[in-house]
Amino acid sequence: MEHTRIKGLLKSEEFGKRVIVKGWVKTFRNNQFIAINDGSSLNNIQAVVDFENTDEVLLKRITTGATVRVAGTLVESLGKGQRVEIKVQELAILGDSDPEKFPLQPKKHSLEFLREIAHLRFRTGTFNAVFKVRNALAFAVHQFFNERDFVYMHTPIITGSDAEGAGEMFKVTTLDFDHIPRNDQGQIDYKEDFFGKATNLTVSGQLEGELAAMALGNIYTFGPTFRAENSNTTRHLAEFWMIEPEMAFYELEDNMDLAEDLLKYVIKYALDHCAEEIDFLKSRLLEEEKSKPQNERAELNLVDKLNFVLENNFERVTYTDAIEILKRSKPNQKKQFKYLIEEWGADLQSEHERYLVEKHFKKPVILIDYPREIKSFYMKQNEPDAQGRHTVRAMDILFPGIGEMVGGSQREENLDKLLARMEEVGIPSEEMDWFLDTRRFGTAPHSGFGLGFERLVLFVTGMTNIRDVIPFPRTPNNAEF
Ligand code: 4AD
Ligand code: MG
Repeated sequence: MEHTRIKGLLKSEEFGKRVIVKGWVKTFRNNQFIAINDGSSLNNIQAVVDFENTDEVLLKRITTGATVRVAGTLVESLGKGQRVEIKVQELAILGDSDPEKFPLQPKKHSLEFLREIAHLRFRTGTFNAVFKVRNALAFAVHQFFNERDFVYMHTPIITGSDAEGAGEMFKVTTLDFDHIPRNDQGQIDYKEDFFGKATNLTVSGQLEGELAAMALGNIYTFGPTFRAENSNTTRHLAEFWMIEPEMAFYELEDNMDLAEDLLKYVIKYALDHCAEEIDFLKSRLLEEEKSKPQNERAELNLVDKLNFVLENNFERVTYTDAIEILKRSKPNQKKQFKYLIEEWGADLQSEHERYLVEKHFKKPVILIDYPREIKSFYMKQNEPDAQGRHTVRAMDILFPGIGEMVGGSQREENLDKLLARMEEVGIPSEEMDWFLDTRRFGTAPHSGFGLGFERLVLFVTGMTNIRDVIPFPRTPNNAEF
């Protein structure tokens, strides 16, 4: 390779050395100073052109967005803001960029605008930083589990089951659209879906993960999952990545310990390995906060917020205790919650979750022992309480600014109890025989959870819209490329 990446050059002491750099023009000032970025660093390298001896037509082609190759001498910079620069001897345009048409100007663009040109936003500093942090977090997840002897298990994307029993699935079909099979009422006969079986895109790899855990002990999945929920929020995607560990012989307490350890480990990894990117995102946020009234500004900057999570234990609270807190609380002097928690059994809305973590406990909270009726069929059932209320060994981890980051539980390992619950909620057991075999042959207590990867990236980058932390967001009406 003839060229050197900018990240290394910016730290280099080898003044006088001939170097070649290839990258994209960020700015071109005074017909002389090109700021070049090749993606390796958030910082640009400055290349100084001898404009008096350079062809004028060539100079005109140095525009924001164009690709250049420069060869020259690495020298100490006299200008402010950089240590080194390149004294250019050769300059070539590898790819022109029409300045009238290129949408990215050398100024700050709004995230809304950048979302409309999502195919070009990789070129901005903000998205460079976000996707580097995303990369580091993904790597840290694998490292965490690898250090603990967990097996990375690939679970299917196309599946015949609905792991969450919530019916939020995208159907997969091999239908020949010229010969669509229809029933007597003229409706499409989906029974003839995927080689004769109705299949979906997976909502979770958990059930398959359980099969593997009940043989290998500790496993995790990390892959794309799909939810056909038509929700247009800043926290939901139709396609998101989930990390799902599943562990034989783990009870709920062990499950909580593992989840807390994992979150702290990956956040620390990002702080240690993406210091430059996180610092950049911190400054970006501080800048943004300036336009807000004083009382709406965040109490902690991004780095302090991340360190705070590392230094404090997550609060572990039962659903029943949380409901008592919420009933007694007013979110502020005048306002009530939009949805009042009147009685035990109601599902928490995001305003309640946020109140608990942001106002009451002021740190991440693990809510456990939820009412059975609002949770999935596979969760382990507790003995009914003194009032005869049924709860399950569920755990949701709530994070400030995010809401639900993790959802998990200890699993119901008792075959009869599981069958009874499936019947109650209308899940046909004959279609789940493969899953039920784990309880028929050598059942064992086991637990697991799902960590929404994009919600983690949101928290660590301080971004506020989930569409800004996944390279190609899939939301309703958003699947162009
Ligand atoms: O709470 P959920 O639905 O749990 C499960 O799927 C379990 N099977 C996990 C398990 O126990 N193995 O989803 C888990 C997490 C949520 O806490 C949230 O972080 C994320 O996945 N999540 C979403 N992220 C982005 N967009 C969506 N539409 C999401 N739905 C869930
Ligand atoms: Mg959940």
